[in-house]
Amino acid sequence: MRKVKILAIETSCDETAIALVEAEGSIKSPRFKVLKEAVASQVKVHRPFGGVVPHLAKREHLQNLPLLCKKICGREETANRWWKKINLVTVTVGPGLEPALWTGIVFAKQLAKKYRKPLWGANHLEGHLYSFLLPAKKKTVASSLRSSTSKLFPAVALIVSGGHTVLLLVKNLKSWKKLGETRDDAAGEAFDKVARLLQLPYPGGPELEKLASGGDPRAVNFPRPLLRDKSYDFSFSGLKTAVLYYLRDHPNASRTNVAASFQQAIVDTLLTKTLRAAVQFRAKSILLSGGVAANKTLRREMQRTAEENGLQFLVANPRYNTDNAVMIAAAGYLAYLRGKKYPLRANGALNI
Ligand code: KG4
Ligand code: ZN
Repeated sequence: MRKVKILAIETSCDETAIALVEAEGSIKSPRFKVLKEAVASQVKVHRPFGGVVPHLAKREHLQNLPLLCKKICGREETANRWWKKINLVTVTVGPGLEPALWTGIVFAKQLAKKYRKPLWGANHLEGHLYSFLLPAKKKTVASSLRSSTSKLFPAVALIVSGGHTVLLLVKNLKSWKKLGETRDDAAGEAFDKVARLLQLPYPGGPELEKLASGGDPRAVNFPRPLLRDKSYDFSFSGLKTAVLYYLRDHPNASRTNVAASFQQAIVDTLLTKTLRAAVQFRAKSILLSGGVAANKTLRREMQRTAEENGLQFLVANPRYNTDNAVMIAAAGYLAYLRGKKYPLRANGALNI
């Protein structure tokens, strides 16, 4: 089977990322090798504002893209030779912040035109979904995936990021059905907002996890929203409000215990709905992805629950949970194999 060298670009939010990935194999057993990758984080730029500021994100992407490209593709003088070995350029077209997405799309279009390469749009959420296929180490192939992926399906996939909380029933790598999603805040957004209530800096998720590590997760019984609801939808804004009122009414409460109890409420909710779906649809595995999948408590409890129920559990190395271009290479390659052609324009609300 032919090896395909892919240059992937991701600018949907506050990380500028470019990766060079070698892909091979069919839609049943795709394999990826990371040859080079670079990420420029904008955390310091957005931190004073407590969240991502779209026009600043755009400005940073415009500055970072040529620098990252130089790092990955080499100097201008050797570029023509370097580009000879590239087969495909792929770029995130959505979902995300449209001004940020456009910077990546325009940059990718310029490269594809200059070096006469095919350009393929990638869906950011498919990047997260497929991240379990990515190898843990550079220049290797994911060990659990040396053979066909068919033994994993049907699977239930939970994508938990800053902008999305989606539960999917995945039949195979090219077809899935959405079972449910958040009706208001995404899980990552809830982490970020509660972190702000606890006076933690942006991005709040990892900071809240650190604070929670010393606390008692049973100290405060925060609500587990929509847990008894039969649907597979989620709702996290009420939980955030519950934390707000708790802090107002208990000014001397231990912040560590509040953080741990809030985190546990999120983990319990995600876990219960995911397991319920896995049982109902007789899934063989649970796939976990998105920035919140970097959370150690969520990973650990999801793994334990999966094992107790005879299910396989697949999650990427933590560095591929948060936004990166390696997962975009995977999304671009698999969209290409599926013949799924996304229009090459920013679509902030692109669905999965
Ligand atoms: O997937 P991602 O990098 O960007 C989006 O596509 O949104 O996810 C970012 C989100 C942020 O809300 C961030 O606070 C959250 O993931 N996050 C975490 C952790 N690391 C990142 N949430 C909880 N615990 C973490 N360790
Ligand atoms: Zn993301």
